[in-house]
This record gives sequence, C-alpha cells and structure tokens, in this order.
Amino acid sequence: ASTLGEAAAERGRYFGTAVAANHLGEADYVGTLNREFNSATAENEMKWDALEPQRGQFTFGNADRIVDHAQAQGMDVRGHTLVWHSQLPGWVGSLGADDLRAAMNNHITTVMGHWRGEIHSWDVVNEAFQDGSSGARRSSPFQDRLGDGFIEEAFRTARAADPNAKLCYNDYNTDGINAKSNAVYDMVADFRQRGVPIDCVGFQSHFNAQSPVPADFQQNLQRFAALGVDVQITELDIEGSGTAQADNYRTVVNACLAVSRCTGITVWGVTDKYSWRSGGTPLLFDGNYNKKPAYDAVLAAL
Ligand code: XIL
Repeated sequence: ASTLGEAAAERGRYFGTAVAANHLGEADYVGTLNREFNSATAENEMKWDALEPQRGQFTFGNADRIVDHAQAQGMDVRGHTLVWHSQLPGWVGSLGADDLRAAMNNHITTVMGHWRGEIHSWDVVNEAFQDGSSGARRSSPFQDRLGDGFIEEAFRTARAADPNAKLCYNDYNTDGINAKSNAVYDMVADFRQRGVPIDCVGFQSHFNAQSPVPADFQQNLQRFAALGVDVQITELDIEGSGTAQADNYRTVVNACLAVSRCTGITVWGVTDKYSWRSGGTPLLFDGNYNKKPAYDAVLAAL
C-alpha cells in the first residue's frame, strides 16, 4: 500500500485525521487529506459551542461541510464531542441542575439525530477525569451539578439517539497505566458489568518531552480491550522531528497493531502548519505537505 489509509485498511484498521472546515478550500490540504486518510474527525466544528451557541439554536453548517466532504471521499467520520467542559458556551454553565440535565440530553439527542446512521464512533464524554494521582472527576458544570451519574446518563441517551454509532469515552494522559487511566478503567469495567452502553475508549495520545509515549502504552490498550470495548488512538501528535519523532510514531502504530481491538488511529491534523501545538511540528506532513520521516515510519509499520 502507498497511503496511510490503504495500509491501515489492509490491517483491518482506519487511519484518520482531524479536519478543519476552513482549510477545505486549500488544494494541497484537500489533496493530502483525500489521498492519505480514510477517517475524519472535526477538529472543532462538532463541539458544543460550535453546534449550539444559544440554547436550542443549532448551527450545523461547518460540521456538515466536513461530513459531506468525508462521505464524498468514502471516509468514516468520528463524532467529537458531545459532553465536555471545554469549548462549552457560557449559557450551559449558568443552568441549574434540572435545566442542565435537560440541556445535556437535548444536545446529545439533537446532534446525534442530525447525523443518525452517519457517524462511525462518537466521543460521548471527553476529559471527565482530573490529572494527577487522585483519580477524581474533573470539576465541570456536568460534574458539579449532576454528580458522577452524568456520564452514565450521557451514554444511555446517546445509545437511544443513534443505536448504530459506537459510543466512546475519550481522554488524555490515560495512554499509560497511571492513576487517571485506572479511574477510567474502573468506570468502564463498572459500565460493562452493569450494562451501561459503552463500546470504545479513545486515547488522545498528545505526546511531547513532558508527556512521552509511555512504555506500557500497549499494555494499557490491552487491558481496556480485555473489558470488551474497542480502543482507538484519537488525537495522536508527537512533538519532535527526524528519527526520534519517527521512532515514537512507530512505537504507537505497533502498539495499536498488537492489540486486536485497537480499531484505528487518528492524527490531530494534516500538516504541521495548522497544528494546535502552535510553533510545534508534531504531525506527519510538514508545512509544505512533504512527507516527514515520521510518515515513512508509520507507513512502513502499518
Ligand atoms: C483542540 C483544537 O485542536 C484547537 O483548534 C482548539 O483551539 C482547542 O481544541 N483535546 C481534545 C481536542 O479533545 O478537542 C482538542 O482540540 C485538543 C485536546
């Protein structure tokens, strides 16, 4: 195979990227996207502030542009993300508990209903746990007003809204075995035991010198898979350049390939020039859309 998507497909996986609607007019961006990737995640366009900036008023235009483009290219679409403390419009945080519960469920039902049957996997809840050693939940309007049960409620609402979508919990700093990933693991195990609908766990995998690829990355993916869920690498980027960066990308790809329930990898952008890591070079194509050593390493590993 000569592209990331084809090579991943031969291994029974997808290879995706985050896509930004405002770059879909750039020929080199679109050319690289269409050639290399067979899955797309909206980088910002499906977040709550983009889709429901005012209560009950939904704006799907930019997200629809990404979905339409992906579908025309035969790509899968990952939905990102329904319930998250960030990029959340101010009105959500000012609601009382009853209104917040109703708004959360209405948001999930309306957004998932808009693309019902068209989304491969949804990040139903994103980043609900704190960093550090506590394993505690992160403060958010949902956590603070609705309590621990908000995640279960979101997943139950999501299953009813689009029974064909795989429902994922997604987080960062959960890529290795640590207190935070242990807390997510315990939640997923509890959900599986009690029949709360959950199909997948997303590992964002934003790596840099402070947060390197963990030595137990594969082991961590495997223990989640053993709970009976798929695992996905959902926002991969790795700071660096040259051989060191290529080696780290190879390690991540090999970890996924070694876990049969690791169903796909998404990198968090097409080109370094538009990476959210401003000034960084964490992706597979440089600012001129040239393939980097990391690209060659990924293609060879797949
Ligand atoms: C980032 C986007 O890449 C940026 O453009 C935006 O300004 C902030 O959000 N975790 C996530 C993603 O789940 O949604 C974030 O995306 C990166 C961290």
